[in-house]
Amino acid sequence: MQKGELLYTGKAKSVYATDSADFVIIAYRNDTSAFDGKKVEQLDRKGMVNNKFNAFIMDKLAAAGIPTHHERLLNDTDSLVKHLQMIPLECVVRNFAAGSLVRRLGVEEGMSLTPPTFELFLKNDALGDPMVNESHAVSFGWATTEQIAQMRELTFRVNEVLSALFLAGDMLLVDFKLEFGVFKGQIVLGDEFSPDGCRLWDRETRRKLDKDRFRQGLGGVVEAYEEVAQRLGVSL
Ligand code: TMP
Ligand code: ASP
Repeated sequence: MQKGELLYTGKAKSVYATDSADFVIIAYRNDTSAFDGKKVEQLDRKGMVNNKFNAFIMDKLAAAGIPTHHERLLNDTDSLVKHLQMIPLECVVRNFAAGSLVRRLGVEEGMSLTPPTFELFLKNDALGDPMVNESHAVSFGWATTEQIAQMRELTFRVNEVLSALFLAGDMLLVDFKLEFGVFKGQIVLGDEFSPDGCRLWDRETRRKLDKDRFRQGLGGVVEAYEEVAQRLGVSL
């Protein structure tokens, strides 16, 4: 598959055209951002780690019957994916309270959430990715009621599959964010799943193994991602 023109540059990934209108190439960069792009640094190896980590997770999700955009790894930092029409919403499931939920509701970090929560955020850095509800999404035309129902259902299924996978590596899947798109009329999981877009804690010590290490200046960011990969058996 030929890497064509640059179509889009995100905060951590770039998207390139291919010789087929149905496929694009995602290139994972070392750029690491937080707070809607206000804090940005280059972290050695992060692009490679996230590319391979994401491919491993997407393959697990596909095996569990979840439709994903992932086709195959092309090299250390690039993957071939289906070209989705992205829905500008972020779907977040939380199993334990952390991050913006703690700030918003004043609850204690680590509180178990049973059943897990489901939230929608508008993908808009200039507005700070505000939380929105289904009514907003439908009224503003970001997604239909049916698409939101499917995204919610798929996000909870992803939570079941991945909570079990991480638990087998002695990790808690605290929360995560997914983005979906439409491919030939179907809702398909897009974007990436990596420690950049989820929270993972060691089950015993609750040591943070995700991008909170970067957000909070704890250091050892990529080393933590590599530890997660190693615990799951991802070959880097
Ligand atoms: P939050 O606590 O900041 O709302 O984030 C919840 C989870 O979703 C956390 O794992 C980080 C992830 N997330 C992103 O990766 N990007 C985003 O833009 C948002 C809003 C959340
Ligand atoms: N909103 C995400 C974060 O705070 C991603 C980003 O802003 O770069 O980490």
